Amino acid sequence: MSDNILEVRNLCKRFPIKGGILGREIGAVNAVNNVSFTIKRGETLGLVGESGCGKTTLGRSLLRLIEPTSGEVIFNGKNIIDLDANGMREMRRKMQIIFQDPYASLNPRMTIGGILSEPMEIHNLFPGKEERKKRLYQLLDQVQLPKDALNKYPHEFSGGQRQRICIARALAVEPEFIVCDEPVSALDVSVQAQVVNLLMDLQKELGLTFLFIAHDLKVVEYISSRVAVMYLGNMIEVAESSELYGGARHPYTKALFSAIPKPTPGKKMDRILLEGDIPSPMNPPQGCHFNPRCWNATDKCRQEYPEVTNESETHQYKCHNPITL
Ligand SMILES: Nc1ncnc2c1ncn2[C@@H]1O[C@H](COP(=O)(O)OP(=O)(O)O)[C@@H](O)[C@H]1O
Ligand SMILES: [Mg+2]
Repeated sequence: MSDNILEVRNLCKRFPIKGGILGREIGAVNAVNNVSFTIKRGETLGLVGESGCGKTTLGRSLLRLIEPTSGEVIFNGKNIIDLDANGMREMRRKMQIIFQDPYASLNPRMTIGGILSEPMEIHNLFPGKEERKKRLYQLLDQVQLPKDALNKYPHEFSGGQRQRICIARALAVEPEFIVCDEPVSALDVSVQAQVVNLLMDLQKELGLTFLFIAHDLKVVEYISSRVAVMYLGNMIEVAESSELYGGARHPYTKALFSAIPKPTPGKKMDRILLEGDIPSPMNPPQGCHFNPRCWNATDKCRQEYPEVTNESETHQYKCHNPITL
């Protein structure tokens, strides 16, 4: 089997905007615009970018929780966009998602036992009573929750514990790939590290592959082997995380990463303050979408959208006038 568990080609998601009394289409947001990337089996690809740049839309499109407008999502060698409902159900078992808000994503009227059993019932896994019980205890053990959690309700747990329940629910169907959509952003800083470390341990133990979406670049740098940067629906740079901090070629990536404080003396990067607001995704600027905020922009940047440049096998970017290293 190929080294890549996931290959995404020219993925697009366009949300039409309707208005007026007739509800006619008055515009559209290209939330995900021609995005291509791969994820290797067993790795974590981090996904970063300012709020509204399309991270959640991309993550959900990969599982077809949002139906992509066009493009291919090839999972284990199969384009899942072509699958019918039955094929997709089988595929969902292999592809799971963990959401940002562990409060909103657990049914308050169900016990933890019920919450964790539901996905196994849907997929007819561990069906016998004893077998199911053993599996439930195993899941609790994997996310480090006590056995007596099974008969309790979500409100009896803290935010960090609830996110552990969501992780256990995702693990219940034995997935290979998990989209983690800002899984620690809603948690207290003190418990963020515990949940991130738990995810890393589970990845090693179970051989999982992650797409890890996050706002916090320090968390992303810590957990990811590679990082992808999005700006207004476009993936503008991808590289190994160690490469991205000092060796970003796209000015936007450089600005984003310059905000991370580094303790190494003498290696301080000057913080770059971005001027101007993010342009409206309904009406992005001509040329490179970043050009109005870019200090390196040339006439070409104001006219043509840049194609991909391959810096190396692991490093790609889209920029006409990149940072010189
Ligand atoms: N259901 C929707 N209908 C219309 N626009 C949407 C919808 N979902 C997201 N968007 C728009 O798509 C863009 C990307 O949103 P999102 O994927 O949530 O970004 P992020 O997760 O990076 O904050 C935003 O401009 C957002 O307003
Ligand atoms: Mg989001």
